[in-house]
Amino acid sequence: MRIGVLASGRGSNLQALIEAWQEGKFPAEFVAVGSDHAEALALKRAEKANIPQRAFPLKDYSTRGEQEQAILDWLKESQVELLVLAGFMRVLSSDFLSALNCPVLNIHPSLLPSFPGLHAQRQAIEYGVKVAGCTVHFVDEGLDSGPIILQEAVPVEPGDTEETLTERILKVEHKLYPEAVRLVTTGQIK
Ligand code: GRF
Repeated sequence: MRIGVLASGRGSNLQALIEAWQEGKFPAEFVAVGSDHAEALALKRAEKANIPQRAFPLKDYSTRGEQEQAILDWLKESQVELLVLAGFMRVLSSDFLSALNCPVLNIHPSLLPSFPGLHAQRQAIEYGVKVAGCTVHFVDEGLDSGPIILQEAVPVEPGDTEETLTERILKVEHKLYPEAVRLVTTGQIK
């Protein structure tokens, strides 16, 4: 299965996916890593792993729609069969999703449907929940919505800050996302 990835920043989830792939954990190949930020560390990680990568900075386009169209064209040219969002900070339009016409996955650092959107870990701390976690789900046109594939909980410890909770959740994300990609690429989840 040909996998494309979109990532806006650091790309630690991308890195976990690349390592799982290199260890033969799923029958797939990464064929494209795109970003809306030219300096995204995710692009450097892709380059190191010899995966074709490209930046689509907003300043190169007159509208967000044109930027999204350029990303779509590139993913289509790359014949992507599964799109994985790894810290991609934009909501994809329903036109994009229907034109791409392949499954799209996302990972979110909360137990959805709690705390969608930005700063999920901060929202969890501010609300005072005692259990947090992360979710891998299929993407639909909503914000952090769509059918859930995997979830894992972590405790919120007394004295946790946004940073310590983020770190605890991220460790789990790096296990959960490769496992979700394995389930999808082996056809165990559709
Ligand atoms: C992760 O917390 C992920 O759940 C969220 O964005 C963050 C991306 O981190 N969607 P990284 O770029 O993979 O390190």
